[in-house]
Amino acid sequence: MPRQIRFNAFMMNCVAHLAPGQWTAHDDRSTDYLDTAYWVELATLLEEGLFDGLFLGDVIGVYDEYNGSPDAALRTAAQVPMNDPAVLIPLMAHATRHLGFGLTVSVAYETPYLLARRFTTLDHLSGGRVAWNVVTSYLQSGARSLGQDALRAHDARYDRADEFLSVCYQLWEGSWEDGAVLRDRERGVYADPARVHAVRHEGAHYRVNGVFQCEPSPQRTPLLFQAGGSTRGTQFAATHAECIFLGAPTHNGLRASAQQVRRALSEAGRAPDSALLFAMLTVIVDETAQAAQARYEAYRARASYEGALALLSGWTGIDLAAYRPDDTLDYVDTDAGQSALASFSKLDPGKVWTVRDAVEFVAIGGRGPVVVGDAQQVADALQALVEDTGIDGFNLAWVESPRTYRDIVRHLVPELQRRGAYKTRYESGTLREKLLGCDAKLDARHVGAKFRRGDGSTGA
Ligand SMILES: Cc1cc2nc3c(=O)[nH]c(=O)nc-3n(C[C@H](O)[C@H](O)[C@H](O)COP(=O)(O)O)c2cc1C
Repeated sequence: MPRQIRFNAFMMNCVAHLAPGQWTAHDDRSTDYLDTAYWVELATLLEEGLFDGLFLGDVIGVYDEYNGSPDAALRTAAQVPMNDPAVLIPLMAHATRHLGFGLTVSVAYETPYLLARRFTTLDHLSGGRVAWNVVTSYLQSGARSLGQDALRAHDARYDRADEFLSVCYQLWEGSWEDGAVLRDRERGVYADPARVHAVRHEGAHYRVNGVFQCEPSPQRTPLLFQAGGSTRGTQFAATHAECIFLGAPTHNGLRASAQQVRRALSEAGRAPDSALLFAMLTVIVDETAQAAQARYEAYRARASYEGALALLSGWTGIDLAAYRPDDTLDYVDTDAGQSALASFSKLDPGKVWTVRDAVEFVAIGGRGPVVVGDAQQVADALQALVEDTGIDGFNLAWVESPRTYRDIVRHLVPELQRRGAYKTRYESGTLREKLLGCDAKLDARHVGAKFRRGDGSTGA
């Protein structure tokens, strides 16, 4: 029996997510991101293709590292303009029954109480189909726009995120016991006050003293994703994440990064396969290999390298305007995302990247590999990656919207299904049940489950 492959679509509420320049094509619809119909049609298409989720990335701030200015990003629409992704979820949830919705939120600028309330609301409105991609931010421009002089130091951001999550767990898991909601019309009692508890938290960064405002949602804690690939980021993921994103440009890099994460899970006292791993990847598939290749060439011709320079400079925290195209990228610690630079330097020692190589690479699909071909060729490549690296699926970026996903649903999904490597129907239940095959709630061994009450534990 071949390994099952899972698909997430990776998007942002913006024009050019990971393929700057492609919006200029006349039949590309990414500029419709301001239209509710665009998102509803996408969600419906992805559900038709039995995708597990639509993943919404997000950043706070604009990409102004390159040349010390936001001009390149603004000219090329490189993740700016960008709207709030959370508000898209209820309208897409209303139009679908099974598709999950991953929402990226940085803990840098939120308070645990308000964010916990937002996720609980979304989990209720979607019937338990929400995931949180916990990020810690990498753009200095975001910090400045939100009243800070600069981002906190890289590892300190994760220390603070640990406490943020601990407060959220207390709110989601420890405030309302199971059975606290009575909705007893006869007696006129909605909730049993004896079973709703105040959370009292005083930590280095956060203070909470009060009852959580929301009644428990189907999953309570949303399914937790994480994508930080630095040493500290991986440790954070190994503590909290139920699913982990990998961003590595080569097959070898992907294998190395999957191994690092599995090892970190063991070191955190968890089973190495206790989290699902999703690799960032771009698929260009068509009726024939020639048609796919021709489209790839057209994408390369249309790509905006200025937009890619803006993105890569922002991810790495290095102003690439100071480099020549043939300079190699060497690893240095920065306070931006450390794994972005690592993936183009030390992750795969067999590959040396010049600035030109890296920029041409990220212009189509960001940090993940690009696979081009007909359905058989692409299915072969994806199966080889999954078998060899032990990952569980892919976070699929798009080049042309919605065409990239339409082609995957039309050509690739049926081929993988024929090979027994892709589901032919959705499982029932919440997103956590569908993905992990467990209960709707956090596993009892998860770090967040220790805050539960009314099940024998003492709570927070
Ligand atoms: C597949 C993937 C998706 C990501 N999506 C986002 C995102 O939407 N927003 C964000 O701020 N960071 C995103 N990141 C970046 C990481 O979450 C992380 O913040 C960044 O890599 C810095 O952490 P690190 O130094 O531990 O790698 C993503 C990373 C990967 C690999």
